[in-house]
Amino acid sequence: MLIQISSEYDLSHNIWLRDHCRCPSCYHPKTKQRLLNTFAISPKIRPISVEATNEGLQILWPLEHSSDPSHPEHSSSSSSSESAHDSHAALYPWKWLRMNSYAPPLHQTHSESITYQEEIAGPGKTLWGSGIAAHPPSVGYEEVMKDDRGVWNWLEKISQYGFSFVDNVPPTPEATEELIRRIAFIRETHYGGFWDFTSDLSHGDTAYTDLALGAHTDTTYFTDPAGLQLFHLLSHEASTDGAAPSGGASLLVDGFLAAKVLKDVHPEAYDVLSTVRISTHSAGDENTFVSPLLKAGYPILQHDFDPAAAAAAPISDLDAQLQTHTASSSHAPPHSHGKLVMVRYNNDDRSVLSLPESLVEPFYSALNKWHSILTSSEGEYWQQLTPGRCLIFDNHRVLHGRSAFVGQRRLCGGYVSGDDYRSRLEVLKKRYGGSVGSGSGSVSGRVGEKEGPLPRSVWDEGL
Ligand SMILES: [Fe+2]
Repeated sequence: MLIQISSEYDLSHNIWLRDHCRCPSCYHPKTKQRLLNTFAISPKIRPISVEATNEGLQILWPLEHSSDPSHPEHSSSSSSSESAHDSHAALYPWKWLRMNSYAPPLHQTHSESITYQEEIAGPGKTLWGSGIAAHPPSVGYEEVMKDDRGVWNWLEKISQYGFSFVDNVPPTPEATEELIRRIAFIRETHYGGFWDFTSDLSHGDTAYTDLALGAHTDTTYFTDPAGLQLFHLLSHEASTDGAAPSGGASLLVDGFLAAKVLKDVHPEAYDVLSTVRISTHSAGDENTFVSPLLKAGYPILQHDFDPAAAAAAPISDLDAQLQTHTASSSHAPPHSHGKLVMVRYNNDDRSVLSLPESLVEPFYSALNKWHSILTSSEGEYWQQLTPGRCLIFDNHRVLHGRSAFVGQRRLCGGYVSGDDYRSRLEVLKKRYGGSVGSGSGSVSGRVGEKEGPLPRSVWDEGL
């Protein structure tokens, strides 16, 4: 059906509209789960009537679910005398229709104000280079521990910059663990849950040595790499042979900025690293052999699904197209990708490279360009961790490393799952920021309401 929303037109399938009825008998208002039986909807369903009201689009659907004994009885609220016993009334708010339109996606058409940076990384992200050293994002320990508004402020900084310091943290493992748990549960891995270690190679990983580590993300070998990581340097003392403590500076690199630079300067290389899958592993502990679910691995640059791009080039064809593209012309236009959502990169963890012959050289060429950008001093932010100052970063965006060091360092910290971090941020944003989702606002409208838990509407973004 063709729907006019303000001055724009949107095409929606009848079956899609019927499937998205959010009345209490089709959609549970508390659990936000579908009650309606999708499979009882006729593929040829047509509305009995359609009416534009102030609240939204009012559609009277024929009652086709009554033959399904497992489906709750529908009672129409329609006043239509002709169809009252055989129909089901559904109301679709205009804002919801616009937000979820797909032919065309109207919510994406007002994009003149979207910057190129936002096109790559999404809104609300500030990409940074070495200059961030002059004003690194930070919050106070007391503020974070005091109330959830402090946690919200902290998570907003992490969301915007990909990292944040927390100052004035008591230099103890207990206080550090408590701090992490202000966000969510600690994610356990084969390294443990909350970890507290020195460079004793207690696990088979270079992190447990005193070697320099280049910029990398952690746990590239997990199907779902760790979301956040927090470090707290508890002490750095002389080594057992008396050598004075030195080195061990921490390195951060904004992977989203590095990706943007790669896309600007070498779009073909960006395509290669966004498409070619890398297999990875963790096998340094005798009792562990981790590799992700997809044995072919994942691209270094992972994007969200973009329906528009997918319509133009189905995902399943991308590898084949890339092969043709790189073999035929290095000047062909790059692919259109969705938003960049994850940088998954640790060259040390890469397994055997298994690619079609034609992609081997393009891959190494692209990897070299990526490495050059990552190791450029303009993108590197070096700083020295000190007891009392925690560093937390988004492991899906910011790469970290360190210089070699002398002496005994005691570090503690932990991972938080990306899903748990985003859940906490979303809820706090809704509670204190007056909006839902990534800046698009709530359909139900909550302007002026800033405090306290708010009821989640069945029309909220993301449901
Ligand atoms: Fe690491």
